[in-house]
Amino acid sequence: MSVPRRGSDTDAPPPVEVRGLVKRYGELTAVDGVDLTVRAGDVYGYLGPNGAGKTTSLRMMLGLIRPTSGSVRLFGRDPQQSVKALDDVAGFVEAPAFYAYLTARRNLELLAAYDGDEARSRVDHALATVELTGRARDRVGGYSHGMKQRLGIAAALLREPKLMILDEPATGLDPAGMRDMRQLIRGLAEQGITVVLSSHLLAEVEELCNRVAIVREGRIVYEGMISELKRGAGTTYRLATTDDERALAVCRAQRGINDLRVQHQRICFTASGEAAVAELSQALVEAGALIHTLAPETVTLEDLFFSLTEGRDGDRMASEDPDSVEVAR
Ligand SMILES: Nc1ncnc2c1ncn2[C@@H]1O[C@H](COP(=O)(O)OP(=O)(O)OP(=O)(O)O)[C@@H](O)[C@H]1O
Ligand SMILES: [Mg+2]
Repeated sequence: MSVPRRGSDTDAPPPVEVRGLVKRYGELTAVDGVDLTVRAGDVYGYLGPNGAGKTTSLRMMLGLIRPTSGSVRLFGRDPQQSVKALDDVAGFVEAPAFYAYLTARRNLELLAAYDGDEARSRVDHALATVELTGRARDRVGGYSHGMKQRLGIAAALLREPKLMILDEPATGLDPAGMRDMRQLIRGLAEQGITVVLSSHLLAEVEELCNRVAIVREGRIVYEGMISELKRGAGTTYRLATTDDERALAVCRAQRGINDLRVQHQRICFTASGEAAVAELSQALVEAGALIHTLAPETVTLEDLFFSLTEGRDGDRMASEDPDSVEVAR
């Protein structure tokens, strides 16, 4: 997805520049040498499984905790050196915090009081942006998870940020809540706000973000566009026929059919291109194995991790699917 860029000053320091970022907790290295650059106008996804170090990284970006080593620059400024670095930055990690016994409006008014009269005048607009105007006089304690997440974004908007850093904004929301959150984040991007968001859901990030960093065990294993990565991973197909034994033999002999395996009693493979799949379907029919299903699989985050760590036996073996059996040629 291409996102309109704010301003045209290409020499300006980028919203986020992270170099060699490390955070250790005793023996544990939660973040292990992260480098990334978020450019103005990006909706940047920080993607990784539980415990990968996403929240810890975002905490360091927001100046909430001190890196063990390495640097964070927000628009060229170090949040550890000066709170001014956070002037144009807002967001939340884990979950936004509010007074449960106060109304949403009162919570926002209290937050706005820190930022002066101008911020106070933005309360109504912020509530409207996240579609909470009708519930603004309700206590936050009675809010659903999705409403609290949206209120967190409203709170961030009071600061009129140029950069918004959001930790798993859609996690725990139902499908409709996720869709609303995506729309909201798209709206922020259209207003010219650069967004960094973390997630463990590939589909969410893929739909929203123009660039991603994929992080695993504290390390970035990929930075760039998901589409490029998926191209490299190849499309996985699933096959079911009237005679799978014969089909397997046909697949084995067919050019352009790779990574052949049987998974959950289904034949799976990657294909070098659509032509190889078309040729395979013809060969199957000729061999008398008639096709029930021949379908491309949705690439999962796990698949992408495998494609990124292929050749690294330790990683691959540790997470091997016990239901998957590779088929020798
Ligand atoms: N304050 C802390 N003290 C000790 N260990 C910590 C602390 N904060 C994080 N960790 C550890 O650092 C690692 C990364 O945690 P982090 O919360 O950054 O992961 P995450 O990617 O945000 O995971 P999740 O998807 O579950 O939110 C974990 O092993 C976690 O236990
Ligand atoms: Mg987290």
